[in-house]
Amino acid sequence: MLDLFADAEPWQEPLTSGATILRRFALSRAASLLAAIDEVARISPFRQMITPGGYTMSVAMTNCGPLGWTTDSRGYFYSPRDPLTEAFWPPLPDIFRTLADDAATAAGYPDFIPDACLINRYLPGTKLSLHQDKDEKELRAPIVSVSLGLPAIFQFGGLKRSDPLQRTLLEHGDVVVWGGPSRLFYHGVQPVKEGDHPATGRCRYNLTFRQTGIVE
Ligand code: SIN
Ligand code: FE2
Repeated sequence: MLDLFADAEPWQEPLTSGATILRRFALSRAASLLAAIDEVARISPFRQMITPGGYTMSVAMTNCGPLGWTTDSRGYFYSPRDPLTEAFWPPLPDIFRTLADDAATAAGYPDFIPDACLINRYLPGTKLSLHQDKDEKELRAPIVSVSLGLPAIFQFGGLKRSDPLQRTLLEHGDVVVWGGPSRLFYHGVQPVKEGDHPATGRCRYNLTFRQTGIVE
């Protein structure tokens, strides 16, 4: 099939105040990003975390960087160590750091210095319920969220869970950046549809970069 967008330059779509979608921004780097995800997962494997309420999350997760987002019976928190391996999380690959900084800058947030990268792996049928990213101390820094592989419908709401949701399809290489007035807006991912992506197979990955402001 002729892909009219194969050579297209990335383009931007405003989402709401402080939030922008950078379409295909990461596409040219996708292969190296996926290779780096494999490297990270070799050291800190993907696992399905258990929520403090006792539910097993359908999305599998791992982390890299100085801090990783994790859970236990007490709650959600950032830790320098992977509770599974008891070792430090793998370091943030340089191409991750560069991409996060480039994307934040393109969206109007210069000087983004991520200290945590959560890696989500979605198989068909898995979803991420509506939530706020609110376990960070530094709320002036944006969230930079990179989509790879199978497409998924991203929901983006407001400060209240009941606020109306915008829905947008996130595709391979898309990056969403939200901060400022939208930093604490509710968001989630609808169940990923069955599919077979040339770069990732039956799988969607998401990288979420955060500058937590937490000093361990
Ligand atoms: C997240 O909110 O942590 C992930 C969002 C996504 O997978 O696109
Ligand atoms: Fe999130």
